[in-house]
Amino acid sequence: MNPFDVLLASHVLMATLSVCLLVFRGSRRLIQHPLPDPRWLRITPHVVDTLLLLTGISLAWILGLDPRVVSWLGVKLLLIVVYIVLGLLAFRLPGPRGLRIGAFILALLVFADIVAIAITRSPWGFWA
Ligand code: HEM
Repeated sequence: MNPFDVLLASHVLMATLSVCLLVFRGSRRLIQHPLPDPRWLRITPHVVDTLLLLTGISLAWILGLDPRVVSWLGVKLLLIVVYIVLGLLAFRLPGPRGLRIGAFILALLVFADIVAIAITRSPWGFWA
């Protein structure tokens, strides 16, 4: 495996871990688990999302892709911010539980669209 493939594999691994952690943490809330989230479950998602962003930026840099020029990358970069914010809202938003569940479901849909963008390399993602 060359260094680029290792970076790409790490990027895809971080993306997979990120959504698994979101689903695990979200499911604990959905079933109204009596215990609060353990410390590792509150910290690891931030570490994984940071690594996801860093590996993505490194891949783009190595490939010489500028998000201001390459539209699918620009949209992907915007959507990762939306995904991270929705993930935070899903666990921190005050008020009715339905709002947090809504943010959680939207975060999963945005994640799926980012995967569609990554695979099709089209800014339209699902709608390509
Ligand atoms: C939730 C967030 C993300 C997910 C799920 C995701 C997913 C993926 C996947 C599955 C691939 C492999 C595509 C393939 O080989 O066909 C990929 C490649 C890539 N991603 Fe991401 N990614 C995410 C965030 C980012 C971010 C934030 C950036 C840049 C800042 C980025 C930049 C790239 C680049 C440059 C490639 C390589 C494309 C190529 O080989 O031509 N990704 N991503």
